[in-house]
Formats: sequence, C-alpha cells, structure tokens
Amino acid sequence: MAGKGMQGFLPPFKHFATDAVHAGQEPEQWRSGALVPPISLSTTFKQRAPGEHAGYDYIRSGNPTRDCLEKAVATLDGAKYSLAYSSGLAALLNICHLLKAGDTIICMDDVYGGEYSTQGLQPSFPGNSLTWSFFGFVQLVWLETPTNPTLKVIDIRACADIVHRHPGVLLAVDNSFMSAYFQRPLALGADICMSSATKYMNGE
Ligand SMILES: Cc1ncc(COP(=O)(O)O)c(C=O)c1O
Repeated sequence: MAGKGMQGFLPPFKHFATDAVHAGQEPEQWRSGALVPPISLSTTFKQRAPGEHAGYDYIRSGNPTRDCLEKAVATLDGAKYSLAYSSGLAALLNICHLLKAGDTIICMDDVYGGEYSTQGLQPSFPGNSLTWSFFGFVQLVWLETPTNPTLKVIDIRACADIVHRHPGVLLAVDNSFMSAYFQRPLALGADICMSSATKYMNGE
C-alpha cells in the first residue's frame, strides 16, 4: 500500500500478521503448550465450590477460546477490550444498551439494512424508548464507513472531533467493510469499533 501511486494513503499498520496469529494465543496459557488455541466445546465448567471456579462457569459468559478471539481482536483494533457476540446485530444491540430510555442515536442515512429494519433495533425497544435520528441529533453517534451497500465514506477523525465537543456522547463505528487491516476507528478517535465477523474480518 505504501508504494508508488499510493500517495495520500496512510501507511499500513505494522505487525498485523504477527499480532493476528500471536495476540491472545500465547501457548503458555495452556498446560499442553499448544501453538494453536484448542477449541473449547464445554458449555459448563467445574466449580470447586459454588461460585469458585478458574474463570469460567458457563459458556454464555465466557470460554477460553472466545477469550483468545477477544484478545486478538482488541490488539488488532488497538482497543483496551473486545467483546465477541454471536452476530453483528447482537453486538449492536449490546452497544445500544449503554443508552437509557429517552436517549437519541444519530445515525447516518446509509447503514446496513438489518440495523434499523424490523430484524434490527426497532423491535428491540418497544414503545420507542430510543429514537433513531437519521442525521438529526445525540447520546450515541453511529457511523458505518464504508457503508453497506453504497460504499459511502465518512471522515471518522472529523466526526470524532465534533462528537467529543459534547461530553458524554459516544462515537461508534461499524468497521465491517474495512476490518482492522485497513482502518482502525479507535485510532481515529472513535470510542467503540464494531465489526460483523461475517464480512472482511473473515475474508468475505
Ligand atoms: C456493515 C454491516 N454491519 C452489520 C451487519 C450485521 O452483521 P450480522 O449479519 O453478523 O448480524 C452486516 C451484515 O451484513 C453489515 O454488512
């Protein structure tokens, strides 16, 4: 990317491949020393006494394999933490749970259809307890860039500068169409970066 003809582009992120195969995957964390993290299939984990366990009790709240994924994604995104969900929309819904009844989301006018359709957020907040304001105004600003499907591109840094003039307002960016290989919203000032793992992150 940094070669001739690519002037105006930011340099590629360093050590991407190394981070992708090593972050969160240290062999020392397994008694076996496995280089590739073992896939944990257990739903339930042994407890020495009720509530006394080695960090895991039930798969929904966490398991060793998911920990590896979350640590790897956090490293690639330049984040402090990462949380993996069973779908992109589940991640979106959990981000929205940071808000309270009466709060407003500013959302750009072209986002993945499922996010605002009947499959997405609208039925999740009965009684219109949250307002989606499509380029209206405010507790969460939601960007998707590039957008699905029309590939609109938004200047994340410029948006972050404006959003952060308003204390308490969060900027979230859906990075599904770029992945951490090409774009790191947190480094550009976003507070939350979200990706659907069905897209570029898994090579599609
Ligand atoms: C940009 C974008 N965000 C979010 C989603 C939703 O992700 P999922 O299908 O994993 O729920 C999609 C799915 O197509 C998408 O394209």
